[in-house]
Formats: sequence, structure tokens, C-alpha cells
Amino acid sequence: MNIWAREDKPLLVLAPMAGYTDSAFREICRGFGADIVMTELISADAIYHNNKLKAISSKLKIEELINLDKTLQMMKFSKKERPIVVQLFGKYPEKFAFAAKWVAENIKPDGIDINMGCPARKVVGSDHGAALLKNHALACEIVKVVRESIKIPLSVKSRLGWESDDEILDFAPKLVEAGADALIIHGRTYRDGFRNGARWENIYKVRRYTVNSKRYTAIVGNGDVGSYQEAMERAEAGNIKLDGVAIGRKSFGNPMIFSEKLKALPRRQAGNSQQLKAVVLRHAKLVYERKSDHGIIEFRKHLLAYLKEFAGAKELRGKAVLIESFSDVESIVKQIK
Ligand SMILES: Cc1cc2nc3c(=O)[nH]c(=O)nc-3n(C[C@H](O)[C@H](O)[C@H](O)COP(=O)(O)O)c2cc1C
Repeated sequence: MNIWAREDKPLLVLAPMAGYTDSAFREICRGFGADIVMTELISADAIYHNNKLKAISSKLKIEELINLDKTLQMMKFSKKERPIVVQLFGKYPEKFAFAAKWVAENIKPDGIDINMGCPARKVVGSDHGAALLKNHALACEIVKVVRESIKIPLSVKSRLGWESDDEILDFAPKLVEAGADALIIHGRTYRDGFRNGARWENIYKVRRYTVNSKRYTAIVGNGDVGSYQEAMERAEAGNIKLDGVAIGRKSFGNPMIFSEKLKALPRRQAGNSQQLKAVVLRHAKLVYERKSDHGIIEFRKHLLAYLKEFAGAKELRGKAVLIESFSDVESIVKQIK
């Protein structure tokens, strides 16, 4: 099944976000209506060099192996998250091909994505992530070998270019040719980082190109989408229809953004206080079940984002940064008026 094929409405995708889009948050967003969720970026090199993987063919079951390894734990997901896409980053075609095949066969997600957009210094400094925007030949070689190594859909998450918005007009057709089933395009360049507004014009131009190309490649736009309504508006420009829209930061504290039912309500009312409190507790419970107290420490940033949604809960932020257990979350939620 091609998870990227748009049907009656544009796909709403939870964009991959390191430190945020873990299993619990993905499940919550799927529950509200995200059509596809993505893991944060995971190192293809780490998978390739993981000697423990060899143990799988001897004694260990896959579940046991995953529990032993931090990188593999990042790929763990529940059935409720499907369709889920695992995002890999790297720069060596052969390591990428190995990692993608191993993940497809053992972790069994619904798709693999290649990261070509991460601007973090650590990632770009070692020629990974957005650095691939500077080397189209290598980027396409990676897409080609990964395409050959897996049967499930393959997507690429890219930016408009390294420094100019027009680079994508040259790059996208090459990615299509190399075998990408979907392109998720963030409407900024590497140079922009997260500054300046996202620009969508060239995302629509890419869509126009791929409609006419021999291979059908889904085009998903991304950048600064703040509501369900806005996502639907962004998905169509004149007679051009994107296959989907990916939402990142505006899902923090507001997974209801994916809900069609709640779309017409302003953000605060979209989860009226009682309902939103229940979401916070459900989210924290999933985190606790999957990662125990360590997960609750990671949940602090989600809790801070949720608190922004409650009028008058500002003073609780000081407590939110200190939570260490599920009962700490319960205690804060009780204090919300
Ligand atoms: C905290 C954070 C972590 C991110 N991590 C990733 C990542 O792991 N992989 C990736 O492709 N993009 C990553 N991104 C980029 C987002 O997927 C998305 O492209 C970007 O935030 C723009 O979309 P938005 O305006 O809806 O947030 C990250 C963004 C943020 C804010």
C-alpha cells in the first residue's frame, strides 16, 4: 500500500521532530487525526555499526534486542501509531541501504524517510542532513540504493535548497528519478535555519512538475502551518493540489491541531479545559508506560507547551520544569483551574 497516495483529502502528517515525536506523542497525534506520523531522525550509521544486530540471527528476539539498544528504542512503536515512517540520516549509500533494509525487515514500519533537511551544526558538520542539499549526486545515489533495498514506500524530507529557494526545482526531479515515492518539502533553505517565513511557491511548482513526470511522487508541503484550516488552505493553490501537509511545532501542546472535528474552534477552546486536561494525563501516562520516570523528565517540555493552552496557568510553569513522576503531572493538572 502506498501510504503517501492522497485520497479524498490532503494527508496530514506529524513532521519528525527530535526530542518530541516519540511513541507516546505520535500515538496521541494519530488519535486526533494525523494520517501519518514520523519518528525523529535516527542514525543509519549507528544501525550499520551495531554489532548487536548480528545477535538477532543467533539468539535474541527482536523485542529483546530493541530493549538493549538506545538507537533501536527510538524506533519502537505501537500498532495505534500506524502508518508510521522511520526517518534515517546519514551520508554513506551502502550504510543507508543496510540500515533501511534492516529496519524494514525487522522493525516493519510503513515507510522509510531520508533526512535531507536537518540544519543542526552537529548533523551538517559531519555532512549529514541538510548537507546533502549541496551534493545532489550523492543524495540521489542514496535514494537509489535505499529504493532498491526496501519494498515499502520511500520518502525524502528536504528543504528548498542550501541557500536559494530555486534549488529544489532542479533537485526534486532528480529525487523523483532516483525513486522517491514522496517528497516532504520544508519551505525554507538551510541558510534560513528556522528564521524568515516558510515559502510555499516552489513547493507548488514541484507539484506541477511531478504531476507530469512518469513516476508519481507525492508532494507534501511543510512550514509554519498553525491550524487544521490553514493546512487545508495550504494544500491547494489554484488548481494545484498537494498530497499532504506536514505539521511540526504547532502540534506542541496542541495535538488537537490534526482534528477535523475541532477545526473551527479557536486554539484554547479546541480542547476545552476538561478535555485538554484528559489529553495531558493520557499523554503523560503513555510516556510513563513506555519510558518510566525518565520519560516524565522528557515530558517536561510537552507539559510546558500544554500549559500555554490554559488561561491563567502561567504560574504552574515553574513547577512543570521540575516534574519527576507521573503523580507530579497529576498534581499539576489538578491545580489548573
Ligand atoms: C525541535 C525540532 C526538532 C526537529 N527534528 C527534526 C528531525 O528529526 N527530522 C526532520 O526532518 N526535521 C526535524 N525538524 C524540522 C520539522 O520536521 C519541520 O520541518 C519544521 O519544524 C518546520 O515545520 P513547522 O513550521 O510546522 O514546525 C525539527 C524541528 C524542530 C522544531
